[in-house]
Amino acid sequence: MLWLLILLALCMTYWIFYTRRLPDEPPMLPGALPFIGHSHKLMGSTENFWKQIKDMSYKCMDLGHVSYFYSGPYKFYILTDPDDIYKLSNTCFEKDKFSHDFTKELLGDGLLFSRVPTWKRHRKLISPAFNQQILDGFMDIFNTQGRRMVQQLKQVDGKGPFDHSHYVRQNFMETICLTALDDCITEEEAVNYVKAFESYLNNNIVRFQSFWLHSKFLYNFSSLKKKQDACMKFLHDTSDSVLRKKRAQRKLSKVSNTRKDTNPKVKVFMDLMLDLDEGTLTDQEIRDEMNTIMMAGHDTSANVIVFALLLIGSYPDVQERIYKELREVLKDRDVEKQDLSRLVYLEAVLKETMRYYVMAPFVGRYIDQEVKLKNCTLKPGHNCLMLFYGVHRNSIWGPDVEEFIPERWLDPAKIPNNTSAFTGFSIGKRNCIGKAYAMMSMKTLLSHLLRRYKLHANHTNVVLKLDVLLKPVSGHFISIEDRLKL
Ligand code: HEM
Repeated sequence: MLWLLILLALCMTYWIFYTRRLPDEPPMLPGALPFIGHSHKLMGSTENFWKQIKDMSYKCMDLGHVSYFYSGPYKFYILTDPDDIYKLSNTCFEKDKFSHDFTKELLGDGLLFSRVPTWKRHRKLISPAFNQQILDGFMDIFNTQGRRMVQQLKQVDGKGPFDHSHYVRQNFMETICLTALDDCITEEEAVNYVKAFESYLNNNIVRFQSFWLHSKFLYNFSSLKKKQDACMKFLHDTSDSVLRKKRAQRKLSKVSNTRKDTNPKVKVFMDLMLDLDEGTLTDQEIRDEMNTIMMAGHDTSANVIVFALLLIGSYPDVQERIYKELREVLKDRDVEKQDLSRLVYLEAVLKETMRYYVMAPFVGRYIDQEVKLKNCTLKPGHNCLMLFYGVHRNSIWGPDVEEFIPERWLDPAKIPNNTSAFTGFSIGKRNCIGKAYAMMSMKTLLSHLLRRYKLHANHTNVVLKLDVLLKPVSGHFISIEDRLKL
């Protein structure tokens, strides 16, 4: 018994020494327990996870915009100041150890979580696939998808509240398949592919919340690992089959860089990667990048639209102003590429939606060198969460920071004089490569939906969860009325 007490006292002393505040370090978040740190707060449901991240963001702001917490023995710095986040994001490009370690079996060297040398090489190779000319070639697909959803929604028109997220997710999943993979994946395969992705990512959040599963040894014996292996096998089998089909299709058509059907200007992302000189990217690397684009490219935009429809339905004045702009610019026709820059108010609504409901409330980085911030220095060897939710709730946005006001984007005097204050697509050199694609596809979809349907909703009822992205759990249903019948 005495030995046990001595051991405990030694462990406690070590913990106190280990977690002591070093000079020039920021203050620690309150609520740490010996040995497990703040892990107990992060455990539980994904609703609780969101509550904690939100709470952490406000506490971090109160503590001077820099703080830290412990998940077990691991120290995580947290930041909410836009300038500090800009400095960090352009100094440390390595993703936090957890994101990288937890996803490397599936996403391997894909851009999102790849190690810095690979990331630099791949980002350079893949960037041309996102140039404006290539993206303009997708306008037909974006319009077809918009018209398709208008048709699908006829079945719920005038029938009261329904879960629009189902339609929106399906639509963006089809769009990313069409623009990334062409017709090399069947509808059924695509649905299962996306479901497997969702399970894989949700299981990763469960692992992050369960500090004992951070240990590879314990994780390897867990039931979670079995579930992850099953998801991964399915995802790898599907992407291998898509790659095989694409290669066969290219061989058959003997036209290596164009789609065989309608528009010769349309190049899907996979074609662009296969167009690179033989051996520039291995099959494994192409597969990793495809999985990454599929994962990063559909649920993010879908979520923004889910929240945008909810907000637009909640603010009739905003809805009427969008409708007026759409009628003026487009009348009844499809969206053309030059229209997009004229949809100024619609863009303001999308940006404000992303400021208000931050899709990725945080992004992690690994501190691989000392980083001098405005008021303190981050020490290497730890992880850091850039709390984008906190940046979007920073007082630099003014006294109405907690309100949804798209008009603020129309007057430069009403938005912060700091380009890092909006982090919807992250900031710095490792920001979202697909942001132009996302804005084009989201604007086009909304242009079709909002000209045809009038929405009703109440976003104040929404209950949120955080499973990789911020998502609604309940209270988010909308109802629609066909404007042709009004
Ligand atoms: C509204 C929709 C979107 C949002 C909110 C969003 C948000 C983000 C965020 C927060 C990051 C992390 C950046 C960082 O680590 O600092 C990211 C990275 C990335 N996104 Fe997006 N994204 C969206 C749409 C897309 C689309 C449509 C694509 C592809 C078609 C895409 C592909 C990627 C890729 C490949 C990365 C990794 C970039 C890198 O590390 O170099 N995203 N995105």
